[in-house]
Order: sequence, then structure tokens, then C-alpha cells
Amino acid sequence: MKFDMIRTVSIGLIILLAACGEASEKPSADKTDNGSKVKVDTSELAETGQSIFLQQCASCHAVNMNLSGPALKGVEKRWKSKEKLAAFIHNSQAVISSNDAYAQDLFEHWHKVQMPPFPSIKEEEITAILAYIKHAESN
Ligand code: HEC
Repeated sequence: MKFDMIRTVSIGLIILLAACGEASEKPSADKTDNGSKVKVDTSELAETGQSIFLQQCASCHAVNMNLSGPALKGVEKRWKSKEKLAAFIHNSQAVISSNDAYAQDLFEHWHKVQMPPFPSIKEEEITAILAYIKHAESN
């Protein structure tokens, strides 16, 4: 519900920006943010991801430092596939008990603290969170 609202607002903003862009300089797709590789066209998605992250993940996670859960900077590179990573976010215990070696090591390393499952999290919400993580990674 809340996510739908955020999305509606985001889409509204995109349309507004697109309309303004006609007259002024269009935000170029490969413009970088302080020399980082963040693309301007992913920032709307990252903003959506940030609000989901703040509501559901930030009690245990930050992007650039460990809290009660690991820093999520560079997390996509640590997983064999985005599907596995998404499955873990969905239900970490299911992936751990499927004998995934990386997930088991991680679970051991974090002193067997369980990450809660997010059974109703949507694919596009996970995509948005991952976009936010990339966006917020310090170089
Ligand atoms: C109650 C604390 C808690 C919450 C809330 C939580 N996590 Fe976690 N998360 C953990 C812990 C602890 C781990 C370490 C693995 C383990 O113990 O299962 C972890 C691991 C992860 C990993 C794997 C990190 C790596 O280095 O590979 C990802 C990705 C992740 N969490 C994403 C999320 C996302 C996205 C959310 C919100 C939707 C979230 N977590 C909410 C505690 C939490």
C-alpha cells in the first residue's frame, strides 16, 4: 500500500522531470554522481529502495558498516546469482537449510543470528533495495 503510493509519487516525479527536461538540459544517462558509477536514471529506483530499506532493513543493516547484520555494500558480488540473493532476502533460513555454503558460512559468522523472513516482499522491491545499496555505497 505504502509502496504503491511511493511508486505513484515517483512516477509522477519522473513525468514532471521529463517534462522539464524538454526545455532545459536533459539529465544525461551516464552522468556520474561525484565520479562514482551511479547512473542518474537509476536514482528514482534507488529512492524507492531507500524508503523500503529504512522501514524494513535499517534496524539491522547499514550499507557501509556492520550493525547487528552485515554491511550490505557490494553484496551482489558476494552471491552467485541475484536469484539466490533474492531468495535469501525472502527467506534466509530456507536458503541456509538448502545447503548453500555461502549462506551457511554467513549465518555461522553472524553467530547464528537469524534474519527474519520477508514473505510478502516483492521482486521489484528487492530490485529497488539493491539499487539503493549500489547508490549508497561509498567508494
Ligand atoms: C533483525 C535483523 C535483520 C533485519 C530486520 C534484516 N536483516 Fe538482513 N541479515 C541479518 C543478519 C544477522 C544477517 C547475517 C546472516 C544470518 O545471520 O542469517 C543478514 C544478512 C543479510 C544479507 C546477506 C549479506 C551478505 O553479506 O551476503 C542480505 C542481502 C540481507 N541481510 C538483506 C536484508 C534486507 C534487504 C532486509 C530488509 C528487507 C534485511 N536484510 C533485514 C539481520 C537482519
